[in-house]
Amino acid sequence: ETEIYQKGLTYSRPPFTFTALDWEPLAAERMSAESKGYVTGNAGSGETARKNRLAFEKWSILPRRLVDTQKHFPDLSISIFGQDLPFPIALAPVGVQRIFNPDGEIASAKAAAKERVPYIMSTASSASIEEVARANGPDGDRWFQLYWPANEHDDITISILSRAKKAGFSVLVVTLDTFILGWRPSDMNNGYNPFLRSDQVGVAIGFTDPVFRKQFRETHGVEVEDEQGAAAAEWTRTVFPGFSHNWEDVKFLQRHWDGPIVLKGIQTVADAKKCVEIGVQGIVVSNHGGRQTDGGVSSLGVLPRIVDAVGAHLEVIFDSGIRCGADIAKAMALGAKMCLVGRPYVYGLVLGGEAGVSHVVKSLLGDLDLTLHLAGIPSVSPKVLNRDVLIREAD
Ligand code: FNR
Repeated sequence: ETEIYQKGLTYSRPPFTFTALDWEPLAAERMSAESKGYVTGNAGSGETARKNRLAFEKWSILPRRLVDTQKHFPDLSISIFGQDLPFPIALAPVGVQRIFNPDGEIASAKAAAKERVPYIMSTASSASIEEVARANGPDGDRWFQLYWPANEHDDITISILSRAKKAGFSVLVVTLDTFILGWRPSDMNNGYNPFLRSDQVGVAIGFTDPVFRKQFRETHGVEVEDEQGAAAAEWTRTVFPGFSHNWEDVKFLQRHWDGPIVLKGIQTVADAKKCVEIGVQGIVVSNHGGRQTDGGVSSLGVLPRIVDAVGAHLEVIFDSGIRCGADIAKAMALGAKMCLVGRPYVYGLVLGGEAGVSHVVKSLLGDLDLTLHLAGIPSVSPKVLNRDVLIREAD
């Protein structure tokens, strides 16, 4: 049974507020200019990120009355990739979390396990694959997000994938929209690239990778620890190669990953259809929270068309702009199987470490639970949470 109902009334002294839209300004007060610029920053003018948020308000929930819910709170459970999950959200992959809290990914992976939501570990993490797996524990659901090295580094990709598999990561999420970092004025104004910082945050996977270490030793004649700046720059070039792979290359990942593969960053029907053709198990309809392509379409805006085109053939996951329970309800009503949450949990990490991430997850789920309950929607099943519960109010 869930214990999330009406946390605001029963859960004494939260680590910080329940007002989700305040988390960003609250966390901003606690961060350095660099960290703040990195997490709140967007591509270019910020248009894509703004549209991500505005898109939710174009849809409204139609609450029904006298729905006999049999004394049950809504059933939030889903089944995806053969896993039964109690809740329809996961923590989105977010890199370099030690710039937000000294415990970084370790705190987030622990909170995810505690709150029973999957933790999606980023390739750009500031902790190693094995450390995160240990923190997430034997009962945690963990998925691995790949920043995909260029083909010339296939041996490194194979090494990372085999480490992830061995450490109990069940699903591979391959991010397609970030083979190079977007034009992000907030970081450029600070002269800031977290991957090249002096404390090498964000390169933990590379620095612990036997294949990368061996290649570095062979080309530089020293260990990565002896030339940390050069090694960090080399690892960063490896995982952000600057140029994209192609659809044919996906077959390489399918040969080297024994389990579900999810392609993250899909925004068009044409690409979603390609994903079906190539035979991956899922997609994340995402624009990276508006951090990559400026002037782009809102992620929620493209979701219904993509679901109509491919929803019968693969799992459609959604992210970019989720800030409250109603947002999750709307994305699922438009056909998403589950939602990823990005910035909100990072703000939780800033404000309260592991307990802060837990608080954000519990708040979002409690809010979702009551939103559905009060609208007479008894579960997140598409049988009852679908387009019939929404009306489009504005363009
Ligand atoms: C991200 N995101 C991201 N995505 C990914 O695939 N690998 C990564 O390492 C990162 N790192 C990262 C860092 C920070 C600070 C942010 C804010 C985002 C994108 C993330 O997974 C997700 O797509 C967006 O955050 C979703 O949008 P919202 O929820 O932040 O609006």
